[in-house]
Amino acid sequence: MKRIAIFASGSGSNAEKIGEYFAERSDVQVTLILTNNPKAGVIQRARKLHIPVVVFDRTIFYETDKILDLLTNSKIDLIVLAGFMMLIPAKLVEAFPERMINIHPALLPKFGGKGMYGSFVHEAVVASKEKESGITIHFVNQHYDEGNIIFQTSCEILETDSPDDVADKIHLLEHKHFPKVIDEVLSGLN
Ligand code: GAR
Repeated sequence: MKRIAIFASGSGSNAEKIGEYFAERSDVQVTLILTNNPKAGVIQRARKLHIPVVVFDRTIFYETDKILDLLTNSKIDLIVLAGFMMLIPAKLVEAFPERMINIHPALLPKFGGKGMYGSFVHEAVVASKEKESGITIHFVNQHYDEGNIIFQTSCEILETDSPDDVADKIHLLEHKHFPKVIDEVLSGLN
């Protein structure tokens, strides 16, 4: 049995799709969903799927080993960042080498780095009149959005698209591909 922990800070639509994708599987389990946001929509979505949720604050995350210990004790094989908006502490990255992946709502290296997340990315894409955008799934290292890329796919952006329109297109791509890419990464783990 392979065990996944998902970190999410907001609505959690990706976390829900991943939870649904693996719900009937006997070889993979979404064991935990973790969030830094006590008001995050992901909490309700996790409850609906009967996945345990852990809410933590900055101090616990950056100044204690509690999250690392929880992940280790829960025998987590893969950490998935699905709309998680905090930088991962070095200790955690080091404990899960090539076992932590992130989804970014643009075609990295474009529109990546500190401050580039969620709707800010889509606003920047529209402001720079891009003809396409897309998603990037990549391994996590200590720098925002710089780990090795696992998967990318793109979609067309029309001149008339608003940032919300771009967000909708990106979410469709994420929901379609992220669970499958996670499945592939898991099958490569021993
Ligand atoms: C997703 O589009 C994800 O790519 C993005 O946040 C959104 C979360 O949506 N992540 C980042 O911007 C990370 N840099 P969701 O809460 O509905 O899954």
